[in-house]
Amino acid sequence: MGLVHGFFILLALLVACASGQSTSPPGYANHTVGGSAGWFFNSTTETPSANYSIWAQSLKFNLGDYLVFNTNSNHTVVQTYNETSYRNCDAGDDESDGDVSVYTGGEGFGQPALIAVPLTKVGSNYFFSGADDGDECEHGMKFEIKVNQGRGLPPSLNQPPPPPYKDPSQSPPDSPSGTGRDGGAGPGQKATANGSAPRGRFPALAMVGFHLFVSLLLAL
Ligand SMILES: *[C@@H]1O[C@H](CO)[C@@H](O)[C@H](O)[C@H]1NC(C)=O
Ligand SMILES: *[C@@H]1O[C@H](CO)[C@@H](O)[C@H](O)[C@H]1NC(C)=O
Ligand SMILES: *[C@@H]1O[C@H](CO)[C@@H](O)[C@H](O)[C@H]1NC(C)=O
Ligand SMILES: *[C@@H]1O[C@H](CO)[C@@H](O)[C@H](O)[C@H]1NC(C)=O
Ligand SMILES: *[C@@H]1O[C@H](CO)[C@@H](O)[C@H](O)[C@H]1NC(C)=O
Ligand SMILES: *[C@@H]1O[C@H](CO)[C@@H](O)[C@H](O)[C@H]1NC(C)=O
Repeated sequence: MGLVHGFFILLALLVACASGQSTSPPGYANHTVGGSAGWFFNSTTETPSANYSIWAQSLKFNLGDYLVFNTNSNHTVVQTYNETSYRNCDAGDDESDGDVSVYTGGEGFGQPALIAVPLTKVGSNYFFSGADDGDECEHGMKFEIKVNQGRGLPPSLNQPPPPPYKDPSQSPPDSPSGTGRDGGAGPGQKATANGSAPRGRFPALAMVGFHLFVSLLLAL
């Protein structure tokens, strides 16, 4: 009787492990700002190419996601957690306090640029174009999002300050002794050369199950 009970406890544990894996939040997402309209501003009509507040409304943002700005070198992306800077469209000179980051892409005027900004802080994140002394921002090239915890930061982003850019040519060489790599190959492959990445809770639970199993065998 006790043995049968033990067996079902073991079974329940294993099932808990399996379902715990599948109910974890979905993987990290990349959100292209403004959808196909991108991050542009028509200086003749003084209008942004999209209503970014409306664009953001329908989406859910989590730590480790990226906002991808499809734009050109005439615009910038300012990311801040300071609502005052956002309301004033003011990128300021105080980038050093870590509350305002300015991203640019491309060289010269009007060169295409793809700017990827990682979401590394829960709560309100503000974005605006700092170009033309804040004029584009004042004409609506700005938006606010709320970032949720989700599954937390991936190891690649878990070291402040987050890397704004990654050189795609620096993909890691294939190691012959394939150590277990987790699927979410993020941009920042600089993570955990010494393999100190936190693993899931699966191994711990599996160990508990294993011990239980062994004790059951001994009890026989
Ligand atoms: C800006 O808008 C005007 C009027 O709609 C249009 O003629 C012009 O081509 C636009 N400029 C750009 C760069 O899209
Ligand atoms: C936000 O920025 C304003 C203007 O630069 C500054 O006075 C204020 O102290 C900042 N607020 C926080 C919470 O850092
Ligand atoms: C970029 O800005 C320059 C200078 O204001 C302007 O001449 C050019 O038309 C702009 N290019 C685009 C693609 O908006
Ligand atoms: C975007 O749409 C909202 C809701 O319709 C409106 O209140 C806001 O003024 C619009 N923003 C811009 C920049 O047009
Ligand atoms: C998301 O964007 C980052 C930064 O550009 C990139 O490295 C990564 O491969 C993208 N992930 C997906 C799933 O497209
Ligand atoms: C892992 O590497 C980082 C940076 O190289 C180092 O700071 C840390 O102490 C290392 N951890 C272990 C357990 O070796």
